[in-house]
Amino acid sequence: MMISGHRDSRLVLVLQTDHSRVAGLLAAHWGNDEFAEPAPYESMVLAAEEHDSGWWEWEARPTLTDEGYPMDYIGSVKNLGSIWLEFFRRGIERVAERDPYAGLMILMHAEGLCTRGKGLISHMPDFSAIPEVRDALDRWETRREELIDRLRGSAAYRDLATEGELWRNFKLMEVFDQLAQFICNRYPFDSEARKNGPSNSIGHVPVGPGRDDATLTVDVLDGARARVHPYPFDRSPLRIPIPARLVPDRAYESQEAFLHDFYRAERCVIEYSLHDG
Ligand SMILES: [Fe+2]
Repeated sequence: MMISGHRDSRLVLVLQTDHSRVAGLLAAHWGNDEFAEPAPYESMVLAAEEHDSGWWEWEARPTLTDEGYPMDYIGSVKNLGSIWLEFFRRGIERVAERDPYAGLMILMHAEGLCTRGKGLISHMPDFSAIPEVRDALDRWETRREELIDRLRGSAAYRDLATEGELWRNFKLMEVFDQLAQFICNRYPFDSEARKNGPSNSIGHVPVGPGRDDATLTVDVLDGARARVHPYPFDRSPLRIPIPARLVPDRAYESQEAFLHDFYRAERCVIEYSLHDG
């Protein structure tokens, strides 16, 4: 869950599964005269849309921090440990059953969540020294090689499964996720209360084959709109609805007391938009 303060002593909770769908919306609209559309398109959009769907298993009944507060997603690899590793593994396999390219992308993204985005994302912690994370990375490496072999044996995917193409698409996945975190991780859009998560400058952004990577800058204009430069989407504005829940900002004495408020929470849809600028 991404947790932001609300104006009336409540918290805004955005589920990872809903943030994941925002990443999918960004991927689906990625591409214009300057930026190449993702390829393979359906696999990349599916991967972005479902990249955090493993979280469903925890978010169906979220647990609290030791202090009794709702648990933010930042630090979850460390805070949830084997629970996080297992639900992410299942999320990878669920998608890989339907689309091995999308499954591979989510697997590489999961590796990145433990390793500062495979070295691309400096603000993230490196969890790879934790023994159970190290073990998971070893298993994911084996699974990654299996999926790559399978894709390279497939006429449909072979050309998009070279080392260069996989690295370019991994970087795109990181951009979809980083941008979707930036969008879902603050309320209202121009709040600077949260100090963690991505900054408004997102680097290593693939532009297209044979082109140098770009850096995207997100300038928030007000409580609901931001300008993105250079602009990678196929329309402006790009409207982004984000489902959210409002719960009291307090410590809970028990898991049951929190779930009572979580399930009864007032629902809202946060409406943000991105603009060419
Ligand atoms: Fe994510």
